[in-house]
Amino acid sequence: MSDTGLFITVEGCEGVGKSTNISYLESLLSNQGVDVMVTREPGGTALGEDIRNTLLAVRGQRVNPLAELLLIFAARAQHLSEVVEPALASGRWVLCDRFTDATYAYQGGGRGLNTEVIAQLETMVQGERRPDRTILLDVDVSVGLTRARGRGELDRIEQETVHFFERVRETYRERAACEPERFSVIDAGQPLEQVQEVLMQLVQQLLAQSAAGTAL
Ligand SMILES: Nc1ncnc2c1ncn2[C@@H]1O[C@H](COP(=O)(O)OP(=O)(O)OP(=O)(O)O)[C@@H](O)[C@H]1O
Ligand SMILES: [Mg+2]
Repeated sequence: MSDTGLFITVEGCEGVGKSTNISYLESLLSNQGVDVMVTREPGGTALGEDIRNTLLAVRGQRVNPLAELLLIFAARAQHLSEVVEPALASGRWVLCDRFTDATYAYQGGGRGLNTEVIAQLETMVQGERRPDRTILLDVDVSVGLTRARGRGELDRIEQETVHFFERVRETYRERAACEPERFSVIDAGQPLEQVQEVLMQLVQQLLAQSAAGTAL
């Protein structure tokens, strides 16, 4: 087993099953004796959760996309230094519900912010830190939105148009295609048992690679 933990992020649009499958991954890994923690972005710290609430609050005023972007990276800086880096350094695996791919997808693809600006902030805030593996749960936007909207009140992001989420999904898929060694794309339109079957195989593969100390 390598000395540092693995940093695994789970991505996808609203309602694709991130929370459901992160819980499943957590139990799979714990059952295999892996010391694993679950966290999320934006959030994961007291400051980050405050920023999350600020970001998701429905308000009459338009939020400037750059202001939104900077708040997300402010939360990320706190999350990395306070939670993620110490956990990985102590050998824990970290399962994170959304990370910087979401920023490229939502603020880049969705809002149309310049990808280069996002990349600069990524370097500034994260240094070399990137996820070891990213699971992209991918399904038709309408399917995910129907699942998510079954929950009731919509937050500021959930109130966006279908076109916005189509751009988000497309950006996620493009990023996955550009980095096939990091991304595992799973068809989240399948019944949950089938999604979890794929996750079980993925966990076996990650454990084998981690034990062998080989690059992922
Ligand atoms: N493969 C699946 N098939 C059918 N229903 C599913 C599937 N995966 C998840 N669900 C259901 O869809 C709903 C949304 O799932 P979940 O909350 O895990 O999504 P999420 O990606 O975390 O959403 P959000 O982006 O809003 O946080 C839940 O009711 C969950 O049980
Ligand atoms: Mg969720």
